[in-house]
Amino acid sequence: MADTRSKGQDSLSEGGILSGCRIIVGVSGGIAAYKTPMLVRRLREAGAEVQAVMTANARQFVTATTLQAVSGRPVRDSLWDAAAEAAMGHIELARWADLIVIAPTTADTLSRLAAGRADDLLSTLRLASRAPVLLAPAMNNVMWDHPATRRNLRRLTEDGCTILGPDSGPQACGETGPGRMQEPEALFAAVRDCCLSIPSWGSLATPVRSTPHLDGLRGKKFLITAGPTREAIDPVRYISNESSGKQGYALASAALRVGGEVTLISGPVNIAPPVGAKTISVTTAQQMNDAVQAQLPATDIFIGVAAVADYRPAEKKDQKIKKLPGGEKGLRLLLVENPDIIAGVSSSQNRPFVVGFAAETQDALRNAREKRKRKGMDMIVVNDVANPDIGFNSEENAVAVIWHGGEEKLPQSSKAQLAEWIIDRIATCYVDQLAPANPESVAE
Ligand code: CTP
Repeated sequence: MADTRSKGQDSLSEGGILSGCRIIVGVSGGIAAYKTPMLVRRLREAGAEVQAVMTANARQFVTATTLQAVSGRPVRDSLWDAAAEAAMGHIELARWADLIVIAPTTADTLSRLAAGRADDLLSTLRLASRAPVLLAPAMNNVMWDHPATRRNLRRLTEDGCTILGPDSGPQACGETGPGRMQEPEALFAAVRDCCLSIPSWGSLATPVRSTPHLDGLRGKKFLITAGPTREAIDPVRYISNESSGKQGYALASAALRVGGEVTLISGPVNIAPPVGAKTISVTTAQQMNDAVQAQLPATDIFIGVAAVADYRPAEKKDQKIKKLPGGEKGLRLLLVENPDIIAGVSSSQNRPFVVGFAAETQDALRNAREKRKRKGMDMIVVNDVANPDIGFNSEENAVAVIWHGGEEKLPQSSKAQLAEWIIDRIATCYVDQLAPANPESVAE
């Protein structure tokens, strides 16, 4: 690849962040293909050059005209198109690509890729390219669970492909379960992060976002918690919450983009970890607390985004709890308190800069101001989860940021966008020494 291509520039709107990155967006034949033009549009808005490549079956679900309109290039779909091959042969096209993303990847395409076949343009490009390959599977939940699909996924992962999703939920076939293609915004974030980690294009060591105050975060060690925790009741039941992990993962990506070293401690979620972050998977609040404590000595900035369960069942039954015999009124479950992870971080020796989140359903600002002080946080980000259209499990959020001596409401935006802004505010507070390890923030 030529070194002369312009790298992205600092921009809160993300415009231009992928300038010059060359991406093949493969489309195979599943109903989720109707969402792929949205992904292509997001990549183009971010400055990427996009070549759409369809399989024969993809044409049943989305038109080449649509993909051509959003990508700004004629769509490629055949190894035997003489005119297209004359303009750029398939090997040349494979070399051109910095990254290949296939969305949706159907069960059949997964199987053909796992077998290393090269019987159409898309599979040939994948085989003839050294670029990273991201696959966004989409299929019926029974097909997804089938041992053959599991085997194909294992093989593709071993071959170095990254699997994005799938999400779980209602499916076009009328069933519910895992197999929905991730939403375009989530796919965009994964593709963007992967592009930014490609050394020949935009290395993490050369952060794309760079201003004097953001530069102060370069090389800093971020520890971020994300997602829900699960507290077991018996072998098949647990207490948990609606957290999707999206905001925490978006913050991890945003911290990577300013040159931070990121450790992400995640509860059970259905999203792919950001490329470049060290990810530690946990299930319970106690495990999350242990992992945080183990990483704490090497942490400059702690961001607690996880929706940690405040209580867990006093004991986990070894056997499934049976329904009580008739006549008994209700089942009592004794809950005991979990450790408050963030309060533990705030009160630790050599404490890092501490950022917490608060999801409130009433008096959001007042409760959050009080919570920041009570837990000794340097900054708190609060969202009002009473609005069902934003926050938990949705793509967008609207938050306010509160720190010592200041408050700011951020407009409703994508979680990726909000993450950029929050990192920006952290940089200002951290670098200007307004709050970190500052006695006033602890003494209030
Ligand atoms: N948090 C934590 N450990 C807990 C509970 C919460 O570290 N056991 C962190 C969350 O990650 C978040 C912040 O504390 O950053 C606020 O979480 P929230 O659930 O709003 O606070 P609670 O202390 O549980 O207060 P509430 O009574 O409002 O639930």
